[in-house]
Amino acid sequence: MRQLLSLLVFLAALCTASSVSDYHEQLLLRPLHPSLLLASFNFQSNTSLASFEQQNFRYFPRSLGQILQHANTRELHLRFSLGRWDAESWGARPWGGAREGGTGVELWAWVEAETDEEADGRWLTLTNALSGLFCASLNFIDSTRTTRPVMSFQPSGDHKNSTLSDLHLLHGTLPREVVCTENLTPFLKLLPCKGKAGISSLLDGHKLFDASWQSMSIDVRPICNAGSNDCQLQITQTIDMVLDIQRSKRPRDNPIPRPVPNEELKCDTSKPYNSDNACFPLDAADQEEEWSLSQIFGHSLKGTCPLATDGADPVCINIPHTRHVYASEGAHEHKDDSGYMRCFAIDGDKDFEIVLPQQEISEKAPLEEPLLYAERSFIGYGQERGGVQAILTNPSPTNAVDFVYMESLPWFMKLYLHTLKAKINGLDEDIIKEMYYRPALDRKRGTQLEVRILIPANSTVVLTYDFEKAILRYTEYPPDANRGFDIAPAVITIGNVSIRTTSLLLPLPTPDFSMPYNVIILTSTVMALSFGFIFNLLVRRFVAMDEGDKWDVRAVRLKALAAVKRFLSRFRKTEKLEKKE
Ligand SMILES: *[C@@H]1O[C@H](CO)[C@@H](O)[C@H](O)[C@H]1NC(C)=O
Ligand SMILES: *[C@@H]1O[C@H](CO)[C@@H](O)[C@H](O)[C@H]1NC(C)=O
Ligand SMILES: *[C@@H]1O[C@H](CO)[C@@H](O)[C@H](O)[C@H]1NC(C)=O
Ligand SMILES: *[C@@H]1O[C@H](CO)[C@@H](O)[C@H](O)[C@H]1NC(C)=O
Repeated sequence: MRQLLSLLVFLAALCTASSVSDYHEQLLLRPLHPSLLLASFNFQSNTSLASFEQQNFRYFPRSLGQILQHANTRELHLRFSLGRWDAESWGARPWGGAREGGTGVELWAWVEAETDEEADGRWLTLTNALSGLFCASLNFIDSTRTTRPVMSFQPSGDHKNSTLSDLHLLHGTLPREVVCTENLTPFLKLLPCKGKAGISSLLDGHKLFDASWQSMSIDVRPICNAGSNDCQLQITQTIDMVLDIQRSKRPRDNPIPRPVPNEELKCDTSKPYNSDNACFPLDAADQEEEWSLSQIFGHSLKGTCPLATDGADPVCINIPHTRHVYASEGAHEHKDDSGYMRCFAIDGDKDFEIVLPQQEISEKAPLEEPLLYAERSFIGYGQERGGVQAILTNPSPTNAVDFVYMESLPWFMKLYLHTLKAKINGLDEDIIKEMYYRPALDRKRGTQLEVRILIPANSTVVLTYDFEKAILRYTEYPPDANRGFDIAPAVITIGNVSIRTTSLLLPLPTPDFSMPYNVIILTSTVMALSFGFIFNLLVRRFVAMDEGDKWDVRAVRLKALAAVKRFLSRFRKTEKLEKKE
């Protein structure tokens, strides 16, 4: 009886423990355009900081937790991104750009250390360990690619006042890194359900890396309840991707895009030249493309993650309530009051599917307008000098925007600070409020430039500067030197919103690497030919077939020796003859 009672108590304890969930996951789908879909996956868990320090990790991935403890890292942000977010047609970025990095890999962290040297050492430990964990070249973030931003980044966690003074912010980027499936697998392994159940089961490398734009992020930060010592370590993992619906629907065994058959072409019949063999394709902007979860992601959702018991609906879709959406059996639909959001509660062990039939679009969910449009490009010409131009537009008719523009340039791109100019609506005006500049040192560190700019409503700022290209050493060029060098994106910070420009490709004066190769090939050929000729002359002797059998090795050797002697004596004779003459 007592045993039964204690078992009951134990079970009750288990139930109360599991009803307080610290793990949350959600997928938000948002059609951006009739044929594009934004899918945002969000995974979050909280672990008490006290138990984390005693190596009791709970939902926090142990591999990452041990790295953070070893490198004394208090806050970490890691980003893997590909593609370009088209702000003009897609609107504001998901999460206000806060979960997004520049093209390639971007990492920034607050490391606790007493001196700068100690912080550098711990940063090195961190980048090397993360490099192994995520199969990415993070170990290439050396001193030339590391900066210490002053104005652009603020810690987002709650740090104790006593440790705040010992925290060092380090930031590194790898714009050249190609994000690929080998980075997704370790990313999924950090999740409590490891991509086997719940929304993470939809993530598949083939679809993710085929997206028009994608970003994976990991953020680790401590959060404390105000006024108490009860702190949690929060890890948030997100994956955002913009999928082309038509492209995703293509079957995997037939991945090559083919022209649409004639009968399926939608033509604009109002054009005068429209006929059987002339067609002006009709813009399908008023027709929503038909899609379902399994068409887009390759398979349907495999139940829910049993650890996500916080009661949040795992799948939400942001479309007007007037639009038809069919969900599979066992799912409960919840519509919210805004008229645009509906979420689905899912039956735990059944597969889940959503189907959106093709339909006329009468109403669209509004797109949020970004605070700033930014684009950056190279200007100038020639192999020696160049320039960079950033065009920043504030679309708001009423509000001015105060932002920090940060560039971290490689050392071989030597910036001339006196050429830095900001023009507003084509006029020179003093709009740079504050500037931080750290010049480059050859082969030691890159240039760091941060400028705070106030841009008035409805205006465009053009920021330009000139630079000089350095000549590299022969061994410093990458194997594909003629491709150019990737320049990290500029980071624009507006309070809690951040925007990144695209990366740039800088062509440097490149020596002709095929020249030494040609010389080596030519000399080797000449040497091989002359060696063969002389060797032949020395040892080859023509004999009759029947004579050949009688020869043994010693005889051959003797004969070869005799041949050498004969050759030398002949050589001497000709020498003597020449002398006599
Ligand atoms: C983690 O804690 C924060 C702050 O207390 C809370 O806002 C958040 O919802 C929690 N997350 C989970 C998954 O419980
Ligand atoms: C940024 O902060 C403001 C005010 O603190 C808040 O209203 C807004 O939702 C935040 N934006 C994002 C993207 O978090
Ligand atoms: C930490 O510092 C901030 C600002 O300097 C202050 O408002 C806050 O009270 C301090 N907190 C503690 C616990 O000392
Ligand atoms: C914004 O600027 C453009 C040209 O500079 C002007 O035509 C337009 O009226 C302005 N809009 C507002 C709301 O001020």
